[in-house]
Amino acid sequence: MDLQLTGARVLVTGASKGIGLAITRAFRAEGAEVVASARRNTPELEATGATFVPADLATPDGPRRLVETALAADPRLDVLVNNAGGGNAPDEALRDPFGGDDEVWAATAELNLHAAVRATRAALPALVEARGAVVNISSVSARLAHTSPLPYSVAKAGLNAFSRGLAEKVAGSGVRINVVTPSGTRTDLLTGQDGYGARLAATLGVEHEELLRQLPKQTGLLTEQLIDPAEIARAVVLLASPTMPSAIGENWTVDGGTLKAA
Ligand SMILES: NC(=O)c1ccc[n+]([C@@H]2O[C@H](COP(=O)([O-])OP(=O)(O)OC[C@H]3O[C@@H](n4cnc5c(N)ncnc54)[C@H](OP(=O)(O)O)[C@@H]3O)[C@@H](O)[C@H]2O)c1
Repeated sequence: MDLQLTGARVLVTGASKGIGLAITRAFRAEGAEVVASARRNTPELEATGATFVPADLATPDGPRRLVETALAADPRLDVLVNNAGGGNAPDEALRDPFGGDDEVWAATAELNLHAAVRATRAALPALVEARGAVVNISSVSARLAHTSPLPYSVAKAGLNAFSRGLAEKVAGSGVRINVVTPSGTRTDLLTGQDGYGARLAATLGVEHEELLRQLPKQTGLLTEQLIDPAEIARAVVLLASPTMPSAIGENWTVDGGTLKAA
């Protein structure tokens, strides 16, 4: 299947590992040129042949400066993937029903919601020129709010609302905005020594390995396995493809059946 992405210019955030790395690899496999961002580069990202631009997207200027840097090198932009997300709330926040104080709420919103708004705002003129696409990476937590710290669930719910609303407002200019919603996916966020999964296990007083073993079934993944990041990446690439002109304001779940509503 030709997804007509050969030579397309794509900007992927959070590209150094996990889902963003898989998305970068998938676009490269389609022949796209990828500008890939994170705070730090990795050998795995370097090996994709993507152009790395460092950025801290949890700062007010970070997303705009990233887009400006990408466009200064070449003014074309066909696809923006707002994937960077997660965050490192302090351990006490994991024990708090509110998921942390004002500072944690603000920091979580900066990375998981405001970064996507800011990057999309900065990229929109170039995307209009290209009649391009935006794909935002959300989470099942947006719709199962109790399963994650609330600042994260609420920020991702906001990302869903932002994406759906903006999709309507810019559809007339030929830009398509869509969302991919993963459930538990095998990345450092869950499996890493310092990731959310390890810290959650410590807070609950269980072994990290044990938490990872139980997590898929407990969160309703009918496969009883964490999702391969490459699977999320395939949905992103398809939504971004110009062969899908009717995919507008969609929210595609890749969640192993986690969300139970019909
Ligand atoms: N894994 C899951 O189970 C799961 C489930 C649902 C949704 N998601 C969503 O999927 C997306 C990717 O998650 P993942 O699991 O692949 O996470 P990950 O393995 O922790 O990777 C996160 C990526 O974002 C970058 N990043 C983190 N903070 C950043 C910042 N302040 N500025 C710029 N880049 C930053 C990281 O690189 P640096 O640290 O070098 O900056 C890394 O490239 C996130 O939006 C997450 O919420 C994940």
